[in-house]
Amino acid sequence: MKKRLLSGMRPTGQLHLGHYVGALENWVELQQTYQNFHLIADYHVLTTDLDTSQVEANTLEMLKDWLAAGIDPEISPIFRQSQIKEHAELFLILAMLITTARLERNPTLKEQVRDLKIEKLVYGHLGYPVLQAADILLYKGELVPVGEDQAPHVEICRELARKFNSTYGKVFPEPAPKLTPFARLPGLDGRAKMSKSLGNAVLLSDEPDVIQRRLRKAFTDPLKLRKNDPGRPDICLIFTYHKKFNPSETTEIRAGCESGALGCVECKQRCGTVIAEQLAPLRERRRQYDQQPDRLWEILHAGEERARLEARETMGQVREAMGLG
Ligand code: TRP
Repeated sequence: MKKRLLSGMRPTGQLHLGHYVGALENWVELQQTYQNFHLIADYHVLTTDLDTSQVEANTLEMLKDWLAAGIDPEISPIFRQSQIKEHAELFLILAMLITTARLERNPTLKEQVRDLKIEKLVYGHLGYPVLQAADILLYKGELVPVGEDQAPHVEICRELARKFNSTYGKVFPEPAPKLTPFARLPGLDGRAKMSKSLGNAVLLSDEPDVIQRRLRKAFTDPLKLRKNDPGRPDICLIFTYHKKFNPSETTEIRAGCESGALGCVECKQRCGTVIAEQLAPLRERRRQYDQQPDRLWEILHAGEERARLEARETMGQVREAMGLG
């Protein structure tokens, strides 16, 4: 039998190249080898934002990007966390199996508190990884594809699985993180991470002219002011993009940049062209779904039905192990 893989994202709207490289592309590739479950973590949005007015629209945008990237909903169910009550139920039980001190040590939480300047942490945010563990364990996920920032959450999930199994009897496998090979794509402004809210992203749905325009403004080697100045590809984010999207030309581009023969304008244009080409099939698939919004709801409802069956079965086993049947 194929191993279970559980992947998830919070619905924050349209996705960008960073999501593609860091997660989606990998999910699509893995869908033949593993049995994938794709979770839309809409409850998790509440940990940092109580305004729910955009959740539905963001969910649909994200779903379109997932489908555009090539996730096949016939093979891999896609479902919303909020539509399956068992997430809340298992979350409650797991919350008893971990100390607040352990959750306060979570480095991902500390980073979020710092980046989002959170002054007072809500109780539910402290429990973020506990809810995530419920997401994974309900479907008996064995592998969780994640970027580095999520690895601590998978570790907490493993601890919770062990604690449950040793206290009540073995119900859960211990899931392993599956780190994405090309984990992080820098943003267009040179910051370490691409992010829509920082305005330094190429969206998966961007048309070719938009991609070119965004790249034109991108940050490059500050010492390469004119075309003939020698550049340093290793510190240039455009070169990082070439390495990812244009590997067959990197040797020539490196030489051209270092000698000064290749200017930034042309280098960016070539980069934009290959990115636009690689996103063309995604744009096309996205367009098809734009024309049939009902299909999106059908996909969600079908995925939720499949997920619900699994979740119910696992909760039955949990209750039985605990003598709460
Ligand atoms: N915390 C994940 C993120 O921000 C999203 C997520 C929620 C998740 N539940 C999950 C990821 C379960 C993997 C498995 O990216």
